[in-house]
Amino acid sequence: MSAPRLAPDWLSVPTDPNALVDGVWPARAERADSGSLRLNGLDAERLADTFGTPVLVLDEDEVRDRARAAAEAFTAAAERHGTTARVYYAGKAFLSTAVARWVTEEGLNVDVCSPGELAVALHAGVEPTRIGYHGNNKSAAALREALDAGLTSINVDNADELRRLAAVATGPVDVVLRVLSGVHAETHDFLATAHEDQKFGLSFEDATALAAEIAAYPLLNLVGLHCHIGSQIFGVAGFRESAARVLELSIQLGGGQPLPLLNLGGGFGIAYTAADDATELPELADAIVDAVAEVAAEAGVALPALAFEPGRAISGTAGVTLYRVGSVKPVTVEATEETGTRTYVAVDGGMSDNARPALYGAQYSARLAGRSSDAAPTLVRVVGMHCESGDIVVDHEYLPGDVHDGDLLAVPVTGAYCASLSSNYNHVPRPPVVAVSHGTARVIVRGETIADLLARDAGSDEGKDEPVLTGEGTA
Ligand code: LLP
Repeated sequence: MSAPRLAPDWLSVPTDPNALVDGVWPARAERADSGSLRLNGLDAERLADTFGTPVLVLDEDEVRDRARAAAEAFTAAAERHGTTARVYYAGKAFLSTAVARWVTEEGLNVDVCSPGELAVALHAGVEPTRIGYHGNNKSAAALREALDAGLTSINVDNADELRRLAAVATGPVDVVLRVLSGVHAETHDFLATAHEDQKFGLSFEDATALAAEIAAYPLLNLVGLHCHIGSQIFGVAGFRESAARVLELSIQLGGGQPLPLLNLGGGFGIAYTAADDATELPELADAIVDAVAEVAAEAGVALPALAFEPGRAISGTAGVTLYRVGSVKPVTVEATEETGTRTYVAVDGGMSDNARPALYGAQYSARLAGRSSDAAPTLVRVVGMHCESGDIVVDHEYLPGDVHDGDLLAVPVTGAYCASLSSNYNHVPRPPVVAVSHGTARVIVRGETIADLLARDAGSDEGKDEPVLTGEGTA
């Protein structure tokens, strides 16, 4: 069934298709007098000339500002109710040693969920006691490695993991159990994580049984509960409801007093397009902490220490991907209520550097970056250079109608879950990540080369040290 109109209802025709929408671009992005885009003092064309395209430009000061604001917002909200807040940056959003340093310098801790993320955080010099460890299937080796590195607290997702942890622990370990609050957050199904029919976490019943089991392990100490209801969630209702439910369980497990720590996860939604209305972190922090405080007051207990894990809200808006336009193709499209032109604008990246549109139907926006234009806005779909038609970067946008081959295009809000979800589909090397701050740009993650890709191809000389297995008794 075709849609009634070519453009979705949420997208309006901009009065100025060169304008940078507030909240969608980093605070230090602007149009220079020449008309080109400047990112924290650097001209987009010069960035593209120096680092090539595609390139993910990450505004260091935006990340730092947001990290500091998050630490302050949650700490202030907690202090109003006589407790403390520990805020972790969820490294899965985007992690490199530079980013780990920025966020820790601004007062955040770092949450990792794999040996690779742990290695990056440790390599950055993050103190092991400031690292949280998540994941629903941590191996015995991974758990041992984390404890050997000096982590003192582990978030446990299920019974098997708990038993592995008990088996590898050689000293005291704080355990935080991840529970399902049963809140079905309003977000894409793949991003909702606190309803029963998915892989993460323990039901309240199972958590109660595991709490009793933990008491029997001499080295394990149950210090709290964790809940994360999902990602890119707008509004405060889901967070409030979930926080209240989990605190009730915590009071039950603590025998009338809450366990010392309540970790309420991340998931705070950000604006990807002008149509999104994101709640500011201070408002969210107050609403969530107020909800927990109400439950605590009703139960007549003091609030436990709180923890939060924003990822996207720290790094998302700091990222802008620059692409070079390679072809422009107008197509006549018939919708049920109109027939019109959709112009396909193909760029030199795509689903390998931003899988989110293909994975979640995520919406983005775009602007010409090398110039501005007086041409009337035209409806476009920005697509990549990969071999499938679902390779969409920006599904619906209005760009100046004279967009052409060779233009530089900027797609904002690519700082979270783009580099971290990137792939080598079609043997496309992954782009560099370049940090910009006050007029200086430097590479924080090197771009891949074709040589990097060939180095993994075991048909070449580099594969000669790989193991070989020979079957028994076959000719
Ligand atoms: N804490 C836990 C336990 C998590 O699983 C996550 C995200 C976060 C915190 C941070 O959530 P955030 O504040 O960034 O929403 N690839 C998807 C997002 C997956 C989120 C996974 N967990 C996307 O591109 O939208």
